[in-house]
Amino acid sequence: MGSSHNSSNFLKKLLPYTLYALFPITLIHIYLNPISFSPTPSTNHITISSSSQEILIKNSVCDYTNGEWVPNKLPPLYNGSSCGTIKQGQNCMLFGRPDSDYLHWKWKPKQCNLQRFDPKTFLNLLKNKHLAYVGDSIARNQLESLLCMMGTSSKSNLYYTDGEEKKFRKWHFPSHNINVSIYWSPFLVKGYEKNAKKNYNTLYLDVIDESWGSDLMYIDILVLSVGHWFLHPAMYYYKNSVLGCHYIENCTEIGFYDVYSKALKTIFQEIIIQRKGSHGNSINVYLTTFSPAHFEGDWDKFGACSKTQPFKGSEKLLEGMDEEMRRIGVEEVKKAKLKGEEFGNSSVRVEVVDITKLALLRPDGHPGPYMNPFPFANGIGELVQNDCVHWCLPGPIDTWNEILLDLLIKRWEVEEYKGGIL
Ligand SMILES: *[C@@H]1O[C@H](CO)[C@@H](O)[C@H](O)[C@H]1NC(C)=O
Ligand SMILES: *[C@@H]1O[C@H](CO)[C@@H](O)[C@H](O)[C@H]1NC(C)=O
Ligand SMILES: *[C@@H]1O[C@H](CO)[C@@H](O)[C@H](O)[C@H]1NC(C)=O
Ligand SMILES: *[C@@H]1O[C@H](CO)[C@@H](O)[C@H](O)[C@H]1NC(C)=O
Repeated sequence: MGSSHNSSNFLKKLLPYTLYALFPITLIHIYLNPISFSPTPSTNHITISSSSQEILIKNSVCDYTNGEWVPNKLPPLYNGSSCGTIKQGQNCMLFGRPDSDYLHWKWKPKQCNLQRFDPKTFLNLLKNKHLAYVGDSIARNQLESLLCMMGTSSKSNLYYTDGEEKKFRKWHFPSHNINVSIYWSPFLVKGYEKNAKKNYNTLYLDVIDESWGSDLMYIDILVLSVGHWFLHPAMYYYKNSVLGCHYIENCTEIGFYDVYSKALKTIFQEIIIQRKGSHGNSINVYLTTFSPAHFEGDWDKFGACSKTQPFKGSEKLLEGMDEEMRRIGVEEVKKAKLKGEEFGNSSVRVEVVDITKLALLRPDGHPGPYMNPFPFANGIGELVQNDCVHWCLPGPIDTWNEILLDLLIKRWEVEEYKGGIL
């Protein structure tokens, strides 16, 4: 409760004006990646049981959810000055964060190993495809991590920018003919954000947000990431009538859990309706689970998230809102995955990028006071703004894209065997 309330206050005060300011685009330095890439994945990953025609993939039992952060000597692929797309308030290095231990951990799932992100593999898998990130500022955070990592291997052009504070952007990687986009859609469904006249959000839970929904036919890989905007005061419509509200006087309180689940149902249904049976032109959908915040006390007081080390596995349990939001995401993905499979030819595939637990263990990964440049240049003031929601770049959020790549590789191995197309 405490943390959700604080996080909600933080977002209320901050979201409208600071989150979308962009750093002037600086040159992207390209450096050679020392990791070699083998263009065909080793086939010994796949074993076929001829009797059942079952495809068993080594590692397919890997559960990313459970594991621990272990020390990592290798530096991140990029840094605060080598990548030009990092949003100002998340460039912790450039803004004077003094410690660097937070950069030297890797996620070790219990039963398998997560490979270091290999930009060349990623680029090869995405050849001639359109990858779209859709969601809120956490989606953008994850997208920028990806662009920074891809940028170490290939140059991109920003060829489209639209919306207040560049909420919609598209990049093209000419080397592999890849398009990467970000769409702002904090509810995924149709909604109006609160404004000066109306102090709450309005959501239409049975209608997809057309800002990205109308592009569904042109997306090959879709990464969805929302959550924190569902905590704000809101009025919910469902099939043209008011279903209820959250934190609004004289309106029936219905909380936001069922609302979040309805929103996911709506968009998965819409994706399936639009893309089912599109032969050889499948869509792979990845839902990033809820990203926990780490406020300890008020967001504008010194030390709101000042830890410099990860939690050990048993030190922090997944509980409360974080657990429930994750559970709903996982549940809705499971249902959508089955629905998608009903239509054969794997035209719609839905997976979860389950990061809630591993992110929960990283209280050290947020910008905290370094959301502002050199916050302690003149000593510690009485009020110190802290971002304990987003993630430093580079930082733990790079791992989410390592998981995404791992899932894409596995998908590709299956398709390669079946002679299909990713
Ligand atoms: C950042 O990375 C670039 C390119 O690899 C390198 O030249 C530079 O020294 C790095 N800067 C810092 C502060 O580590
Ligand atoms: C990338 O975007 C351009 C411009 O909209 C389009 O012409 C091209 O077909 C797209 N390529 C892919 C692979 O989506
Ligand atoms: C809520 O209802 C009460 C009782 O009818 C009324 O006095 C109050 O002004 C209402 N508040 C708002 C914000 O509409
Ligand atoms: C799968 O694709 C093939 C050829 O593209 C088509 O003949 C078949 O009807 C499709 N099956 C389903 C279940 O959509």
